Amino acid sequence: MSDNLENKPPVTTTDAGIPATSDAHSLTVGPNGPIVLQDHYLIQKMAQFNRERVPERVVHAKGSGAFGYFEVTKDVTQWTSAAFLNQVGKRTPVLARFSTVAGELGSADTVRDPRGFAIKFYTEEGNYDLVGNNTPIFFVRDPSKFSDFIHSQKRMPDSDMRSNNAQWDFWSLSPEAFHQVTFLMTDRGIPRTYRHMNGYGSHTFMWINKGGEKFWVKYHFKTEQGIQNFTDSDAKAMVAEDPDFHRRDLRESIDKKDFPVWRLEMQIMPFEDAANYRFNPFDLTKVWPHSDYPAIEVGRLVLDRNPENFFAQLEQASFEPANMVPGIGPSPDKMLLGRLFSYPDTHRHRIGANYLQLPVNQPHNEVHSYNKDGAMRYRNNGNQPVYAPNSYGGPQANPNIIEPSWESNGELVRSAYTLHAEDDDFGQAGTLYRKVLSQTDRDHLVDNIVAHMSKGVEPFIQERAIKLWLQVDKDLGSRIAQGLGATVVMPAGEKQEAQHS
Ligand code: NDP
Ligand code: HEM
Repeated sequence: MSDNLENKPPVTTTDAGIPATSDAHSLTVGPNGPIVLQDHYLIQKMAQFNRERVPERVVHAKGSGAFGYFEVTKDVTQWTSAAFLNQVGKRTPVLARFSTVAGELGSADTVRDPRGFAIKFYTEEGNYDLVGNNTPIFFVRDPSKFSDFIHSQKRMPDSDMRSNNAQWDFWSLSPEAFHQVTFLMTDRGIPRTYRHMNGYGSHTFMWINKGGEKFWVKYHFKTEQGIQNFTDSDAKAMVAEDPDFHRRDLRESIDKKDFPVWRLEMQIMPFEDAANYRFNPFDLTKVWPHSDYPAIEVGRLVLDRNPENFFAQLEQASFEPANMVPGIGPSPDKMLLGRLFSYPDTHRHRIGANYLQLPVNQPHNEVHSYNKDGAMRYRNNGNQPVYAPNSYGGPQANPNIIEPSWESNGELVRSAYTLHAEDDDFGQAGTLYRKVLSQTDRDHLVDNIVAHMSKGVEPFIQERAIKLWLQVDKDLGSRIAQGLGATVVMPAGEKQEAQHS
């Protein structure tokens, strides 16, 4: 916004462009008389105000973001034919949005929660959306559990307050969640700013090269600002001091030209390795250890432009994992496959059937589609034929683009993943505790878990969770039990048990 002190400001108009006669006074019969219905401008102001809000995102409602670019720094053409990745030095415009998950639009930034890390690449082959988090894993591995998981994190139906009891009830009945819960309860569970955290595509995706060769890949955006986190108590103090701390930090850094940068590194697995890999490579509750698939540098993400209008450029932004460009595809990860449906569906509800015509969501290349009409559609195809096939020069699909695909057969079943040698729910969480965390990190982890489980969580749920913590790591489980005042009992030759004192 520029102050117009020297130039004369423009005349206010109605939204139909008609000059308004007053910014402050409604039209009345005499100075204190009734307001007349013919004050069309007043009615327009009030009616428009009543319709200012669109529904907030059902998750990830509080967030912030910025524009910038992605630059390729290493040749990756041996793995993907994606045009925006086909040349070292090539830059593609991007929009990135960061968010918390469970809080509402006005909630505080510095809370313990995963952070969304969503990127829209405006490529020459259409929009590519990578909608990840600041964690490489997730709480559940089947989309049918996602809404239940979220319900356990958000407000309860009776009190309309959040409930630690519900959170631990769900988690302790969902052992697959414990890797992500461990991550969440470490200091990385509250990043200091959006700039000081990594981003992960989290799922396994497919890359396909020009020759049609396929690879399984994972995306890691490593912060070049360095990892920095809040301690639990500093984060709580910041909730009171500045609930918009992360939003403000990002905006001010970019205003000061201190542009945040992330280095994109990929893990790349040959297609054939998946079948016999020691972990199910499509299980979102697991990482691929770097010793198996080292990270390879690919490019850098730079954010250098703040939004000029938050509503138009961030509130109306719609990211959808289904937006993948040629050379990139999904994998058999059930969570990812579920998400391919979910996002465009919620966008149609949240911001309308023609959400892809909103300026921030429009691709930067030309659209030649047979879709037409609907509420608020304003870009139309003139008299282009409205059906295919046609004899009148309408657009034609390109059958030479290689579809991402894999073989699959078997009976229709509802099943958990089981077939890989090390597919348990606790091993990788235990590795994180024992091999990655420092002693201080481990102490904080125990303190954070004990504090979280102490707030209104029923003893039988605490006990069930402790049994799972003991399976992550005996020392971790024992320390949590001790912190909660529970006695750990380990019958000879059996798994550890915990009993509440
Ligand atoms: P490595 O030692 O090769 O990698 C450890 C990873 O852990 C690095 O990516 C590092 O990220 C990350 N890390 C470091 N400190 C923390 C922390 N305090 N909290 C969370 N993550 C941290 O080992 P592996 O690849 O074998 O993985 C071992 C365990 O590390 C996994 O079971 C998983 O829990 C965790 N992890 C693994 C990742 C992966 O993709 N392989 C990614 C992130 C975590 P950075 O370099 O940014 O510090
Ligand atoms: C937002 C559904 C899992 C990351 C959303 C939204 C929905 C949703 C409905 C709101 C979108 C909007 O209104 O614009 C789901 C479902 C999931 C799932 C059904 C599982 C089946 C995940 C996972 C991740 C993730 C695993 C990360 C790895 C995000 C992010 C946003 C988001 C970053 C915010 C995007 C933005 O900034 O606009 N999700 N989600 N979600 N989700 Fe998911």
